[in-house]
Amino acid sequence: MAVSAASVMTPRGARYIKQLVSHMSHKVTTDLDDAGRGTITLEYGQCVLAPEARHLTMTATADTQENLERVQDVVARHLLRFATQEELEVVWLPLTELVHPAVADYTLQHSTPADAVLRDLAAETRTATGGSSGMQITADEGALLTMLVRLTGARRAVEVGVFTGYSSICIARGLPAGGRLLALDVSDEWTSIAARHWEKAGVSDRIELRLGPALDSLRALPATAEYDFAFIDADKESYPAYYEEILLRLRPGGVIVLDNVLQGGRVLDPVHQDPRHTAMRGLNDLVAADDRVDAVMLPLRDGVTVIRKR
Ligand SMILES: C[S@@+](CC[C@H](N)C(=O)[O-])C[C@H]1O[C@@H](n2cnc3c(N)ncnc32)[C@H](O)[C@@H]1O
Repeated sequence: MAVSAASVMTPRGARYIKQLVSHMSHKVTTDLDDAGRGTITLEYGQCVLAPEARHLTMTATADTQENLERVQDVVARHLLRFATQEELEVVWLPLTELVHPAVADYTLQHSTPADAVLRDLAAETRTATGGSSGMQITADEGALLTMLVRLTGARRAVEVGVFTGYSSICIARGLPAGGRLLALDVSDEWTSIAARHWEKAGVSDRIELRLGPALDSLRALPATAEYDFAFIDADKESYPAYYEEILLRLRPGGVIVLDNVLQGGRVLDPVHQDPRHTAMRGLNDLVAADDRVDAVMLPLRDGVTVIRKR
């Protein structure tokens, strides 16, 4: 699904939403709730408009990028028509890029870059997995993982969600000689690409791959605090269970890193009730209030939370 959002500066957001919903209700399905939140459902997509004190937010969704642009266009044109007393600026941003793309690119350019091994892996992943290659972490996230492993002096690490092995290489590189990474995934196809690149990176001796549902693999481990570092980047609805199983096995001072905690911004808005979004929203709330840990959520890419066990 394609999603984008626009934040339009205006103190008259509630009035515009009302006008827009009333006008469009003659042609399409609309709704206006008690909080002044409007929903416009077109044949090819939907837009939710919410009034705030000094701005109005619009979230557009559609099944394709082309239809998303049609939704954006029709809503923005009508909105601008109603704003006769002020000049509004409507800038749509894809919700997968919550941080302004120029800032995201600048931070990427000013973090330790990927070396030739990681660049080759990223290139092969694009060719071999097509659209799925977007699952791979970026170079700045990889640099963060290596740094956290080194800073914590971790010797034993576990990773949930290997894919083609980018994050495994970044974690394994941070481990000292004799360190071990347990890498969990369900896909033989994707992890066979990983295994070749672990060889090239010279870290295959410290990584043990275990194939199968990660929850089963975690539950089969001894329930003792042996791990120093964990990275969770697999099926989102299972994150709460992965968190509990890993926390149980993490030594005090150990670190868990969660990827994709913002879900393209959908955790911010309860209108998104997909199990991935509700699970992540629930876990984010739980972690922030969990007195077993300290946590910092970073707006890096799709959101990364760094958690330290007390
Ligand atoms: C977002 S990708 C991981 C990306 C990887 N960390 C990287 O840096 O390239 C998610 C991975 O989780 C795996 N996965 C999905 N559900 C799983 C499950 N129940 N148990 C184990 N792995 C799972 C998928 O096969 C996929 O390889």
